[in-house]
Amino acid sequence: MKKIVFYSALGMLIGGLAASCSNKLTTTTNTMTTGNVTGSAKGIEQADWGEADGKKVYLYTLTNANGVQVKISNYGGTITSWTTPDNKGNNSSIVLGFDQLQGYLDKPPYFGATIGRYGNRIANGKFSLEGNNYQLATNDGKNHLHGGSKGFDKVVWDANLLVKNYPSLTLNYLSKDGEEGYPGNLKVTVTFTLSDDNEVTIDYTAETDKATPVNLTNHSYFNLTGDISNTILNHSLMINASRYTPVDETLIPTGELKSVKGTPFDFTKATTVGARIDQVQGGYDHNWVLNRKGKSMDLVATLSDPMSGRTLQVYTAEPGLQFYSGNFLDGSITTGGKAINKHSAMCLETQHFPDSPNKTNFPTTTLRPGEKYGTTTKYKVMVNK
Ligand code: BGC
Repeated sequence: MKKIVFYSALGMLIGGLAASCSNKLTTTTNTMTTGNVTGSAKGIEQADWGEADGKKVYLYTLTNANGVQVKISNYGGTITSWTTPDNKGNNSSIVLGFDQLQGYLDKPPYFGATIGRYGNRIANGKFSLEGNNYQLATNDGKNHLHGGSKGFDKVVWDANLLVKNYPSLTLNYLSKDGEEGYPGNLKVTVTFTLSDDNEVTIDYTAETDKATPVNLTNHSYFNLTGDISNTILNHSLMINASRYTPVDETLIPTGELKSVKGTPFDFTKATTVGARIDQVQGGYDHNWVLNRKGKSMDLVATLSDPMSGRTLQVYTAEPGLQFYSGNFLDGSITTGGKAINKHSAMCLETQHFPDSPNKTNFPTTTLRPGEKYGTTTKYKVMVNK
């Protein structure tokens, strides 16, 4: 039987509390237990990690009963590492990241970050909504990408820690009316939970006071070998999608939902990433139209690495998945003394389709006052011994 600790909800407001704490805070030492303590969630630790925009930045370590650790910063809502054992019992991180805040202040391409207000591209940074025309920041040539010049990945979020059955970190951010050109004050919450089944669940919620597009995701770059000296080209990938959205030369969808059948985009059966990548100009950087409906999460993708024996499963309630094969990584950024080269890592970003505000045939991304945006994605890691 699975052992569970029944912690009373403590919901500590770290913002104020942290200021009075010296350096580290281990929530489990402060919890009140209300049931049988049989040993499960080890909890959350908070460490000072520097400052940005005059605000304190922290690095949180979530640890589960198996010793699996996920580190997340309130700078950008960024997952900086996810340490799991391989088939030989060696621990290494399966995501790209830095152990110092400076690595993120140097603006890497969204390593591990929370992306918003709109994940991926909006053509020419333009859209109209309820009779108004909006011009967003254009930060990817003529297009808008991942929320603009200073998206949710580059802001300092407020943090709340909670240890219930599992350690969980909630980040809050108020994106003000007009930020990066978007209409409406948007209150956003992102909660990361690490379970004893080695799952990281990310719950997103948002509310607005003016109609606005919203499309939140996480931009973790995975390399299941745990060593970025290896590429991800030998990883095997399954995506449960019969269609994808073809793009123009600036990576804006043409609007077509095209069958993957007989194309290098067919991952309905597990296939290695490298098997057909040469047939795709520039490499994979596309949105797949997931074979799923409704509001509950489904298993949509499975990534496996034969060398480490690790498998990553992706579950989501979103209609789309951006599979980006790290095409623009060019060795100019290093981490742990190693260069991050092309295909050193890859992203599986759950999302609504790119440029939805300008594509009436795509599922809507409009959030209106009085409505609640809510979506969940779960990444689960397993190891084959
Ligand atoms: C996009 C890529 C982009 C990358 C990093 C991905 O989500 O699809 O085109 O280069 O993020 O910015």
